[in-house]
Amino acid sequence: MDLHVDLKDRRDLAGQIYRGLRAQMLDGRLRGGERVPPTRELARRLGVSRNTVSVAYEWLAAEGLLTGRTRAGSFVQAPPREHPPRGRATAGVKLRPRAIWSELRTPRPPEPPARHDFRVGIPDATLFPFEAWRRLMARQLRASAMTAAYADPFGHPELREAVARHIGVSRGVRADATDVLITHGAQQALDLIGRVLLEPGDCVAVEEPGYPPARLLFQSLGARVVPVPVDAEGLDVSALPDDARLVYVTPSHQFPLGIVMSPPRRRALLDWARQRDAVVIEDDYDSEFRFGGRPLETLHSLDRSGRVLYVGSFSKVLLPSLRLGFLVAPPSLQRELGLAKQVSDSHSQLPAQAVLARFIDSGMLARHLRKTRREYELRHARLTEGLARHFGSGLRLLPSVAGLHLSATFARGGARLERTLTGQARAAGVGVEALSPYFAGTPTRHGWVLGYGALTLDGIDEGLRRLRASVAGAL
Ligand SMILES: Cc1ncc(COP(=O)(O)O)c(C=O)c1O
Repeated sequence: MDLHVDLKDRRDLAGQIYRGLRAQMLDGRLRGGERVPPTRELARRLGVSRNTVSVAYEWLAAEGLLTGRTRAGSFVQAPPREHPPRGRATAGVKLRPRAIWSELRTPRPPEPPARHDFRVGIPDATLFPFEAWRRLMARQLRASAMTAAYADPFGHPELREAVARHIGVSRGVRADATDVLITHGAQQALDLIGRVLLEPGDCVAVEEPGYPPARLLFQSLGARVVPVPVDAEGLDVSALPDDARLVYVTPSHQFPLGIVMSPPRRRALLDWARQRDAVVIEDDYDSEFRFGGRPLETLHSLDRSGRVLYVGSFSKVLLPSLRLGFLVAPPSLQRELGLAKQVSDSHSQLPAQAVLARFIDSGMLARHLRKTRREYELRHARLTEGLARHFGSGLRLLPSVAGLHLSATFARGGARLERTLTGQARAAGVGVEALSPYFAGTPTRHGWVLGYGALTLDGIDEGLRRLRASVAGAL
C-alpha cells in the first residue's frame, strides 16, 4: 500500500506518523482489514528510523486501531462506527472556469433504464462477441506483445490499415492507412476537428433537430452554433448561414429523424461548401446497419476538393464503452489533426486498437456485422409494423432504412401532449424519448425517437402493447 503521511518537520516524528495514520483510520480512508506497510518499508519511504515507525505502530495497537504485528504484517482494525465520515476535498476559493462553461446547458442525465426500454443509441450488449474479444485481448496483454513506449498518435498501423480497407469495401470511401486517424469514438474526432479548424466565434452549422453532443462540443470550443432545419431530403442547404466555417451532418441516417440525405442535396451541400470555402463533417455513425434501398455514395466520395472529413465509430457495431472511432483526414489537415490528438491524449489505448485490427483482419467483424444486421433488421421491421398496427395514422413514422432507431411524429398535438404521453409511458414501464429535446431552438415536430438496439422481438411487442395502453387512445 502506498501510504501517504505528511511530515511537517523533524520534531516528534513518531507522533506525526501516529496522528497521520490514526486520522486516516478514523475517517475511513484506511479501512478495516487493510495491511499497513512493514515498519522497515515505511521508515525508508519517510526517511525516518525504523524504530520511529515501530513506536507509532505500537501506540496505534495500544488504542486497538492496529492488530497483528506478526510476520504476516499489521492490519487496520475497523474503527468504531460513530466516527465522522471522511471529508470531501476542501471547497476552497471559487475558481473561475472560462465563461463558456457556465453558458453551456448541462445535458439531462439519462433516465434510469425502463422495463421496456426503447432507449436511443445503444446496441445490444448480448450480441457483443465477448469470447472472441477476450481471446484476442489476452493475446495482447503479454509482455511480448506490449511495449513500454508511447505509440503513434495517429493510431496502431494495423488498425489504420484495417479501417481503411473496411470503409473502402463497406462504404466506398477512398482512403489509405495514412489518411486514417484512430480516435476515442466519433466524439473525439469532432473535438480534434474543432480544435484544428475553429477560431472563437466561428460559425458552425448543425442539423435541427440534431445530435446534442456535437452541438455542445462545438459550443464548448467557443463556436457560434447555428441550427439549420432538416426536411424530407436532409439538411436544407438554402438555409445555411453564409459565414458557416464548418457544417456537421449525418447524411446516411440523420440523427435523430432517420432521413437519408438525397443525392441532389448532397451535391448542393458540396457546391455550397466549395463556394464558401467551408468544411463538411460527415458523421457516418451507424450506416453499417442498412436494411433496404440502394446505399448512397458518401459525401466524402462525391467530394473532389478535399473538404469533407469523414467520421466513423465502432460504438454501434461493437459497444460504445470501448470508445473506438476514427477520422479520415484530408492531406491538408493531417499534420494538425495528428498534433491535436497528441496534445489531447497522446494516442488511443493500444491493446484495444490491436484487438480491433485483428478482429477486422480475421473476418470476425464481417461475420459479426452479418449476424447483427440480420437481427437489427428484424427488430426494425417489427417496430415499424407494430407502431403502424397500434397507432395507425395517429403516429407518423419517418422513413428510415438504417441504424438502431427510428422517429415518429404525432399527427396532432404539440409539446404538452409529447410531455404528457412520454411521462405516462414511463409510468407504465416503457422508456421512449421525446423528440423535442433534440432541437436547439423551438421544436417544430413532436413525437418520439425509439431505439430498438436493446430490445428483443418479444420485448418490442410487449413494449408497444404497453405503450399503446399507456396513452389510452390519446393518439
Ligand atoms: C449522430 C451520432 N454520431 C456519433 C455517435 C457515436 O459517438 P461515439 O463514437 O463518440 O460513441 C452517435 C451515437 O449515438 C450518434 O448518434
